[in-house]
Amino acid sequence: MKSVAVLPGDGIGPEVVSAALEAVEQLRLPLDLRFGEIGWECWRQEGTVIPERTWKLIEETDTCLLGAITSKPLREAEAELHPTLRGTGLDYVSPVIQLRQHLGLYANVRPITDIDRGQFDFTVIRENTEGLYAGFDVHGLDESLWNAVRSHPNAAASGREATSVTLRLQTQFGMDRLLRYGFEYAERHGHRRLTVVDKPNVLRHSSNHLRERLELIAQDHPDVETEILNVDAVALWMVRRPERFGVLVAENMFGDILSDLGAGVMGGLGLASSGNIGDHGSYFEPVHGSAPSMAGQGRANPMAMLLTIAQMLDHLGMPVPGQELRGAVSKVVRARTTVTYDLGGTARTSQVAQAVAGELPGHTDEPAPPTAVSTDVVDRLAQLDTASVSDALDSMGIPCVLAGLAARVPGTRAAGRAYTVTYRPVDASVDRGFRNAANYLDDVPEGSFVVVDNAASTTCTNWGSLLTNLAQRRGVRGTALHGSARDIAEIRAAKYPLFSTGATMVSGKNRVELAATGRDVVIGDVTVRPGDIVVADDNGALVVPAEYATEVADRAERVERTESAIAQAVNGGMRLDEARRQFGYANPWGDDGKQPSRA
Ligand code: NAI
Ligand code: MG
Repeated sequence: MKSVAVLPGDGIGPEVVSAALEAVEQLRLPLDLRFGEIGWECWRQEGTVIPERTWKLIEETDTCLLGAITSKPLREAEAELHPTLRGTGLDYVSPVIQLRQHLGLYANVRPITDIDRGQFDFTVIRENTEGLYAGFDVHGLDESLWNAVRSHPNAAASGREATSVTLRLQTQFGMDRLLRYGFEYAERHGHRRLTVVDKPNVLRHSSNHLRERLELIAQDHPDVETEILNVDAVALWMVRRPERFGVLVAENMFGDILSDLGAGVMGGLGLASSGNIGDHGSYFEPVHGSAPSMAGQGRANPMAMLLTIAQMLDHLGMPVPGQELRGAVSKVVRARTTVTYDLGGTARTSQVAQAVAGELPGHTDEPAPPTAVSTDVVDRLAQLDTASVSDALDSMGIPCVLAGLAARVPGTRAAGRAYTVTYRPVDASVDRGFRNAANYLDDVPEGSFVVVDNAASTTCTNWGSLLTNLAQRRGVRGTALHGSARDIAEIRAAKYPLFSTGATMVSGKNRVELAATGRDVVIGDVTVRPGDIVVADDNGALVVPAEYATEVADRAERVERTESAIAQAVNGGMRLDEARRQFGYANPWGDDGKQPSRA
């Protein structure tokens, strides 16, 4: 049983907290929720935003769940104080800053997931205690600072009194604990890439210091790949290629800016959650504030709060209900029928919370919506033979083969997130001119596997050399075409993984048109949903449902280990039947058999 200090706070805070907690009640979480007071009302009545009893509650509990808190400038803070407290020299200090300092919370963690289409899933981890926001910020310099900057021509032209300086503080103590947390977070959440966001070509010395610490600490985490990128480039890529990121670690100001950009990339304040983590404490809150103008109207989006609870559950070691909650929110977002105004709907806070509750396990027989598969799991699947992946899916009773799709380019293999495209025949009796049916390709995210459904037609084509060229430039992993292709020679020369029902020379121009993208596609008895993982090689193409991707990768890797152990033993002279018995051929995906360790 874990205990949580629930601090609803001000404005829309209490509304979203109570709606969200009511929705998750049916998960019967092993949580002891203990409510406390924090925020503007405490300040007005008691002259402190965090009363002593609330600090005590925070000390007694495992973590805190915060709604939102109103902060106002100094003059208003003084004016709104209870008359008996006015003029007594009380100082308003933001409760968020007090919590961070008092609990030593050095990492601000913001998961950014594509809750709508499952195309990306990364996390921004911002340093909270040093960097450019460390507080060394002065206007009008003392002698020592002035001596440090006076050689700059602009400073010389302005003089000591008319110059300001902010220092970026980077300490080994601060960097090391942040990097360690970043690596551990990546490992726990199955991310295999850690990107350090910095500006090495301008801030040469401090960046190099950070790089040295990174290289040292990375040695303890050999399974996580690292890179250092310029902050401006990351801003661009976050918008253009969000699927390429796993965990991003950044100093205070860079992280501040990027985490808000991330909130925008994932669809706005109504969906963004955050956690503040230290070695001995933590609190979780939605990114949005108290939105005073909306307070009391029941129109605020409770999803940010629901996703914040999911993040807290992960942190408390309860990833399964956390994932169920995210899945339920995702389903309501995708259905678009019960969403608040910020997502284009008219639903009220309580209605959205109830709709999410209705999608939680125990309330529905429908399958969970597709989950976002991390890039690392996709990459693992890309390393595996379709034969092993198919064995793994077989062992789980999941049909997977995209029947009738043959490899057109021998020797290629690929895995990627399904981006589905549906074609339909053009009605020739109505001439509506030329149709740019393939323009969808400009919008396909990097890492996608394009799945085109033209009802297995072999009378005209939906793929050729021009699209191959564009797809390769956009980082598309391959194409599975339930239909026909042409320009096979050029596509072979380009070594592009193409799988299709047929090949012909007849153009599809004005014979077919685009019906939809992002819709489920049915091939044989297999349904491909957007975000599922397509895996393909010379044997053909198959699809791994997104929600089983990790388990399938685990099982398939065990299959390959078993098979290579058997092959090795046989080459060493062992009888086949003996080798199969010894290495558990009857149940190669199981982890209970005798598994030789990977050489
Ligand atoms: P805000 O996030 O409270 O609101 C900005 C706008 O975003 C709102 O006007 C509303 O249109 C929209 N919005 C926010 N949350 C929403 C939700 N759940 N559903 C639908 N729309 C939503 O930011 P603002 O207006 O800058 O600050 C208001 C107060 O909140 C201030 O007193 C500020 O100090 C405080 N604040 C507190 C934070 C915290 O508790 N950590 C963080 C940010 C602001
Ligand atoms: Mg900010």
